[in-house]
Amino acid sequence: MSTNNVWTHKGTFLLAAVGSAVGLGNLWRFPYLAGENGGGAFLLVYALTIFAVGIPILIAETMLGRNSRRSPIMGMRFLTRTHHTSRAWESIGWLGAVSAFVILSFYSVIAGWAIHYTGLMLSGGLIDADAERVAASFDVLLASPPLLALYHSLFIGASALIVGLGVHRGIENGLRILMPALFVILMVVLAYAVMIGDMAAAADFLFTFHLADLSLEGWLEAMGQSFFTLSLGMGAIMAYGAYMSGDASLTGTAFTVAIVDTAVALVAGLAIFALVFGAGLDPAEGPGLMFVTLPLAFGEMPGGTLLGAVFFLLVLGAALSSAISLIEPVAAYLVERFDLSRPQAVSAMVVASWALGLLTVFSFNAWASDSPFHELFGRSPFAVLELLTNIFMPLGGLLIALFAGWVLTHGEVTKEMRTGASWFRVWRLLVRFVAPAAVAFVFLRSIPQVQGYWVPAIGAAVIVGAFAAAHSFLVERHGS
Ligand code: PHE
Repeated sequence: MSTNNVWTHKGTFLLAAVGSAVGLGNLWRFPYLAGENGGGAFLLVYALTIFAVGIPILIAETMLGRNSRRSPIMGMRFLTRTHHTSRAWESIGWLGAVSAFVILSFYSVIAGWAIHYTGLMLSGGLIDADAERVAASFDVLLASPPLLALYHSLFIGASALIVGLGVHRGIENGLRILMPALFVILMVVLAYAVMIGDMAAAADFLFTFHLADLSLEGWLEAMGQSFFTLSLGMGAIMAYGAYMSGDASLTGTAFTVAIVDTAVALVAGLAIFALVFGAGLDPAEGPGLMFVTLPLAFGEMPGGTLLGAVFFLLVLGAALSSAISLIEPVAAYLVERFDLSRPQAVSAMVVASWALGLLTVFSFNAWASDSPFHELFGRSPFAVLELLTNIFMPLGGLLIALFAGWVLTHGEVTKEMRTGASWFRVWRLLVRFVAPAAVAFVFLRSIPQVQGYWVPAIGAAVIVGAFAAAHSFLVERHGS
């Protein structure tokens, strides 16, 4: 059974894909990774991967969705049948579902912090606070599992509500309100940063290239980040692509998504670093950049609490529009495969992901420096999950590129792309050779560097096993 959902307008896919792409990855992760990995050097690798690897895969993934008109797992099953090729390609759908589920679990915990900070800003709790007090207030939040779990539940619940309402009533309507609002807020934050921050220092930091600053781990992070920020390799784009109008241009849309996404990361990065440098603070703060350094800057500036509240609302909205794209591919699959109602499917996905999210909740307190995960994998549960997605997303992307490049027929691809012969040839070269080589290169080079690299593989196997068990239970209940 194929889906009969199609976006209401030709341009809705673009809106949805931008909504998925722009999120914590742009506002929280990009600035702190750039800050930790030498600014411009990181940006260079990141931008190169976005354009040489990200865009071609974005086109490929959308194409697989639109061509099959099914949720990612069913879509890949359909495509392997119609192309008489190995069912192993179905792993694209499964890898995506597993990553979506894992990412949602920690994404929601982090996004929950923004709920806390919106409240803190509005209540004026951090006005004129010194560095110690701001840092202490972050530590208090992180030290409290009930508080973290509460925000995690609120955030994931809100995302589930939107997806549960359906593709049109929930996702489309939600995005139509959220996305323009986010754009306006981003412009306000930027204007403010230009007026009172140190833009020159921010630009210098982000755009000066010191390639030597970039470690091997930095390369892997930049590459992982470019997949993460474009929502690639995990079914979100494929699921949305299944609803895309046949008339919309794949190439044009993919370039627009990548450009908007990169622009938002840069604007957010510039604004954040301008405020941070303006307040004389340290850019290499890590994940605390947005939650310690920035609130400190907000606390010191005139009208900062209001700006701060608005900023954290931006973070929340952007995270929400991404989280719904993490739920959709799995929910759509459950509806398609097991005839679950949409609310049932969404609940199944979200409740499981919520529970996995508790690992992240405890990664900041009880299990911050000592846990079974540290003994096995040398890192916290959250870090293990993050590493998993840094591996799964490029791997999924690699398989998508190979499938679109080698399995889809020339006729199908030209029918989908409807572009000139020369761009078609460039694209095919990129997905057939360049993207796979880039992913393989980063993987191979990083293997000896990452401590206990093989161990997260066991973690992956466990998660996949649990999935398979739950799945066979559903198959049994459903019959067939
Ligand atoms: N692209 C989103 C961000 O930058 C994260 C995301 C990844 C969303 C994968 C959906 C799928 O925050």
